[in-house]
Amino acid sequence: MYNFDDLIDRRNTNCMKWDRLEELFGGTGLLPLWVADMDFSAPPAVLKAIKERTNHPIFGYNYSSDEYYQAVISWMKRRHNWKIDREWILFTPGVVPALSYSVKAYTEPDDNIIIQSPVYRPFYTTIENNGRNIITNPLIYRDGRYFMDYEDLEAKIDSKTKLLILCSPHNPVGRVWTKEELTKLGEICLKNDIIIISDEIHFDIVYKGYDHTVLANVSPEIRERCIICTAPSKTFNIAGLQISNIIIPNNELRKKYSLELEKDHIIRPNVFGEEALVAAYNESEDWLDSLLEYLEKNRDFFISFVDKNIPQLKVVKPEGTYLLWVDFSDLGMNSEELRDFLVNKCKLAVNPGEMFGKESGLFQRFNIGCPRSILEEALIRIEKAVNGRN
Ligand SMILES: Cc1ncc(COP(=O)(O)O)c(C=O)c1O
Repeated sequence: MYNFDDLIDRRNTNCMKWDRLEELFGGTGLLPLWVADMDFSAPPAVLKAIKERTNHPIFGYNYSSDEYYQAVISWMKRRHNWKIDREWILFTPGVVPALSYSVKAYTEPDDNIIIQSPVYRPFYTTIENNGRNIITNPLIYRDGRYFMDYEDLEAKIDSKTKLLILCSPHNPVGRVWTKEELTKLGEICLKNDIIIISDEIHFDIVYKGYDHTVLANVSPEIRERCIICTAPSKTFNIAGLQISNIIIPNNELRKKYSLELEKDHIIRPNVFGEEALVAAYNESEDWLDSLLEYLEKNRDFFISFVDKNIPQLKVVKPEGTYLLWVDFSDLGMNSEELRDFLVNKCKLAVNPGEMFGKESGLFQRFNIGCPRSILEEALIRIEKAVNGRN
């Protein structure tokens, strides 16, 4: 019913992914499979809601509507089996800003904050830019899959450790953490009085056979010690509308976070962002289900193409997210040679592994949120360049 094969030309729309390629990657004629948005149209109901809003010609100061709160509450219940109260929901223009507000709300300069590398780059920068210390608790890579290292985590906790920022599902390694894994993590944090900021922005993009567990649903104790960062932006491809929902069940934690928002006068959602959220959550569930089927086929297409034609590459099969983490180490290049190879020989823009952690220089992150023909073209380019070397 929805056509995800359509090639929509995004050039000349101030689009990060397509319009800043040459400036950022330095090559020409590159195919972009980097920044995490998709090359698909937003759902029809979202487009309609935004158009309808423009029928009224005034875009003055607004406030969040009942419909908005109800849409968020109902989405969490329907899709995530999570019952939330209206007052727990705090609008913030993005999840990355929410990470920064959380760092300010719950820690002091020079406190320690734990992240699980390799992980989304802004986890590092938000800690550094706020003058706190990054403590990495690297994930363990075993048999093509990543796991949390609880022993290392416990060893790294000290009296300065106040916060852990969790990526769930995990960007870039694609894990959808199980309830057991989250319970173990949560219990260690509870024991050491560490608050968990759970970035669940990818929580709707989960493949068959896996279930996302909202961290706050793990136990009543953990619920009181976590901040859940959610948004419709990845799910419905509306990142440019800048709307995210930060959900904080605990009163005291919520008050501290709200104060940070108030300091910067972050009190009003963008008029279009709110219209889009309501249409997405209330009317676009079938679109999401079709998207998930398409993405899963993209994932499987990528993996089987690589297995068959470029066996030197190892793909970490994602359980969620439209991001694929690929190990290039068997090509025998160092990370600089690999980058040069991808840009200048393969003509591809993908995210280099060291963005996510210094240990990951020979990995690359691919974004498969695009028509399959783009994915196929990218893979053919790699296959030709790899075979051309032999
Ligand atoms: C884990 C994670 N958090 C946050 C973001 C971005 O959030 P926002 O655009 O709402 O600031 C991304 C985007 O790629 C992401 O992967």
